[in-house]
Amino acid sequence: MSKHNIAVLPGDGTGPEVVAEAVKALEAVSRKCNVDLQFKEFGLGGDLYLKEGILLPDDALEELRGMDAILLGAIGHPDVKPGILETEILLRLRFQLDLYINLRPVVLFPGVDTPLKDKGPEDIDFVVVRENTEGVYAGGGGFLKKGTPDEVAIQDSINTRKGVERCIRYAFECCRKRNREKILTLCAKTNVLVYESDLWDRTFHEVHKDYPDININYQHVDAMCMWMIKNPEQFDVIVTGNMFGDIITDVGAIIQGGLGIAAGGNINPEGTAMFEPIGGSAPKYTGKNVINPLATISAAQMMMEYLEEKEAASIMQDALKKVLENDIKGLEAGNMGHGTREVGDLVVRYIEG
Ligand code: IPM
Ligand code: MN
Repeated sequence: MSKHNIAVLPGDGTGPEVVAEAVKALEAVSRKCNVDLQFKEFGLGGDLYLKEGILLPDDALEELRGMDAILLGAIGHPDVKPGILETEILLRLRFQLDLYINLRPVVLFPGVDTPLKDKGPEDIDFVVVRENTEGVYAGGGGFLKKGTPDEVAIQDSINTRKGVERCIRYAFECCRKRNREKILTLCAKTNVLVYESDLWDRTFHEVHKDYPDININYQHVDAMCMWMIKNPEQFDVIVTGNMFGDIITDVGAIIQGGLGIAAGGNINPEGTAMFEPIGGSAPKYTGKNVINPLATISAAQMMMEYLEEKEAASIMQDALKKVLENDIKGLEAGNMGHGTREVGDLVVRYIEG
């Protein structure tokens, strides 16, 4: 029997509710497929910070580093100034565990509404590979003469050859593995960002020599936002930097049906990985049993794929599809026709078959 140690970080707001449903689904599929999942919960988040001033202690970080995977609910608390929890927990985990890939599939499942007119599941099925540790997120910069009329604010975008290359290589591999249209599109801004996008573009073409079976394409980030809406069917895999990846994956989330379903993985292919729903902590829905757990269950499904539990991952995928096609009225909180726990129960029922 294969065994995996899973860290569970429910986090803030509705995080614990959605994570509970994902754990329920994981427990059901592990029983079915004979996989041993050992869960360990970590109480990090806004409440712990407000009570004890603790964000992400070094010993927790080291313990997380040794886990096979991490399942995260949501980070963000209404009583904590925006930026503290995000930077000190979420971003710190991404940096310290060197989770350099942010993998965000954009898939429209049958039965899910998209705001795109005349587009269906056959048109919306691609993956965004977002660099997850560099760019403006690296935190370089500073103020000069802060608070005076002569103030200067500098925000550096850090792009290393190593960081760019490992991300691009992962994207080529991902495109080969998907084995669909075999088109990898680079999203950058070579017409303005003449240093960073130039590095991305040069590296992209150099790495392409190792992947002659993959066709390459390029879009500026502004045009990318337009094409994702106008002709999403042209995309197979998209690779991009941290900031542009953040932006275009919100476009991706909405065309696949919104935050109720969008999930992603923060991955270090040589280390551990952390899976999360793309939506936030949704404080106003907390404790009401109305939030949609499917994005988190989808994140858990991606986690099983990452752990190479192929059968379990495919059973979870099928269960998700069935709930979306047969049972769910809408994906928004309070609009599902079922409560959070009941949606989790439905997924479990399909997993158990
Ligand atoms: C995301 C989020 C984060 C990001 C925030 C919460 C720091 O928007 O995961 O896309 O910008 O990466
Ligand atoms: Mn974002």
